[in-house]
Amino acid sequence: MKDTMVIGMEPNKIDRRLIVECGSILRNGGVVAFPTETVYGLGANALDANAIKKIFEAKGRPSDNPLIVHIAKKEDVIPLVKNIPEIGRILMEKFWPGPLTLLFEKSDIIPNEVTAGLSTVGIRMPSHPIAGALIEAAQVPVAAPSANTSGRPSPTKGQHVIEDMMGRVDAIISGGECNVGLESTVLDITGDIPMILRPGGVTKEMLEAVLGQVAVDAAIEDPSKSVEKPKSPGMKYTHYAPKADVIVVEGPVEQMVMKIKVLEREYRAKGKRVGIICTEETKDLYGEAMVKSMGSRQVPETIAACIFKVLREFDETDVDIILSEAVEAVEIGQAIMNRLKKAAGYRIIHAEE
Ligand code: TXA
Ligand code: MG
Repeated sequence: MKDTMVIGMEPNKIDRRLIVECGSILRNGGVVAFPTETVYGLGANALDANAIKKIFEAKGRPSDNPLIVHIAKKEDVIPLVKNIPEIGRILMEKFWPGPLTLLFEKSDIIPNEVTAGLSTVGIRMPSHPIAGALIEAAQVPVAAPSANTSGRPSPTKGQHVIEDMMGRVDAIISGGECNVGLESTVLDITGDIPMILRPGGVTKEMLEAVLGQVAVDAAIEDPSKSVEKPKSPGMKYTHYAPKADVIVVEGPVEQMVMKIKVLEREYRAKGKRVGIICTEETKDLYGEAMVKSMGSRQVPETIAACIFKVLREFDETDVDIILSEAVEAVEIGQAIMNRLKKAAGYRIIHAEE
């Protein structure tokens, strides 16, 4: 067990002294958890293979899953990559800082431990003021996966990180709730057509508006398509899963609600305790059942911001089964449905049936 320093900090009131201290912990090979606009990250010096090993240990993560490298300024990408394709420049200009990770051919200074032996490296420049200040203070690029124990929902509040990482890392900066709430979009720009490997905060529609054609990795919809050699290796692991079994119910809203009510009664009759993940628009339709709203269908960004928190909240209850409403898989809904389906281990029921 490590002696973990927990630091509370407001994003708009940065404590320089503590940021400098955490920056030097990172530079000297330690591990620091910090908030970003997407989810909390578990950071270590991306140029130090030993420091990187500590991340995998703290998370209990298989080391064949590569990490994203975080930088404080756009030009910091230069020494980390072989070249910057023209569309890379355009995307960096348009979406950095922000929730977009770009894959480049890596330079030799990135250790294989970061990329799990791949020739490409994922790089992003976060927009969260604490993340930016910390990476700048570290004076090194910072590799950071989400700061959850491997398999659990990603942390979007300081308390989530404290639950998972207390005693396992050198410091935790607790800096409020992450406002995007879902991880960055991972975009491969090393091929002819840019390809989304993980949907996230920057949507396909936003990328298409800038690039025209954008492909989506088939494994996002159907993970069996990439069992052999997943392009984004993280996609092959069970993820985001709360302790209870999750079942996603898809379909037109009215039928979806009806179907969930029927299933809830069936499971309850079998002696199971059932929780329901619903939306602001539907939360009053389930009678006495235990419901948690993930946000408003009118403003899907509110759902993105809350979904991991709601999945974690069910871990504090004694439910055996969670029935979740689906949302329309367009714009940010594509990333929301990707995370929900993964949390459900792809158990999906169609309400029309
Ligand atoms: O928003 C985010 O991206 C957060 C915050 C902390 O920045 N980080 C994050 O990291 O989600 P992680 O490690 O939990 O997820 C990284 C994803 C994994 O699915 C991984 O397989 C993929 O990015 N990835 C990273 N480098 C890659 C590479 N070179 N090629 C293909 N996929 C890569
Ligand atoms: Mg993760």
